[in-house]
Amino acid sequence: MNKTQPIKIRQPEESLLPKGLPSIQIAPSLLSANFTILAEEIRKVEEGGADLLHVDVMDGHFVPNITIGPPVVQSLKAVTRIPLDVHLMIERPENFFEDFRQAGADILTIHQEVCHHLHRSIQAIKEKGMKAGVAINPSTPVHILDCILPDVDQIVIMSVNPGFGGQQFIPLALSKIKNLRNMIRQAELDNKVSILVDGGIKLDNCLSVAQAGADILVLGSGIFHTPDPAATVKQVRELIEAGQP
Ligand code: DX5
Ligand code: ZN
Repeated sequence: MNKTQPIKIRQPEESLLPKGLPSIQIAPSLLSANFTILAEEIRKVEEGGADLLHVDVMDGHFVPNITIGPPVVQSLKAVTRIPLDVHLMIERPENFFEDFRQAGADILTIHQEVCHHLHRSIQAIKEKGMKAGVAINPSTPVHILDCILPDVDQIVIMSVNPGFGGQQFIPLALSKIKNLRNMIRQAELDNKVSILVDGGIKLDNCLSVAQAGADILVLGSGIFHTPDPAATVKQVRELIEAGQP
């Protein structure tokens, strides 16, 4: 696989990758971290070499759960230099773009399913100086993204139904990743649009997700519910670089 990854910040490590094998970005999801010691949890995944921090924002309407909002994102920003990848699982996300910009979000992802005017919303995120992502649920087909691909920085393929950490990976996501990779390649957007996969990724399936064509893997419970999150981040990267489960 030969993909350039626009959101990548780990240039030195990239050059160490064996030729011809995929480079990957790892985004631990703080949803599965211990919320009473978030700064410590962040230290652990920093030590492991995490590329992004994935922050799940839920509103109890679009998804059946409530999590955190801009004040917590602002606190996270104060304790890390890793870019914050903020995944909005909320209705009317456009009402909060400015709040999340001020809080320090680097990437803002919104769901295709809640946006009446997706193109307008994506432009609004980018005009505020953030990178823009579109997420799709397991039941949403990738072809629906055809007209928005040239405008986004990342597509988030949900490999679980959004709302909770610790769910089982939905296998159909693998063919969606492959199809989306083909769409991106045909549109000659490999250097511009990243594929992020979110949900149910663990040590035992991270390689197949990477091989299907993902650029960025989100792992929540797969990292924070292991005894040594720093070691797990490294292990994910090693497994993918080795190309063997
Ligand atoms: C689910 C969230 C995911 C979740 C992933 O709605 O969007 O980011 O934190 O958690 P795991 O890796 O445990 O499935
Ligand atoms: Zn998420």
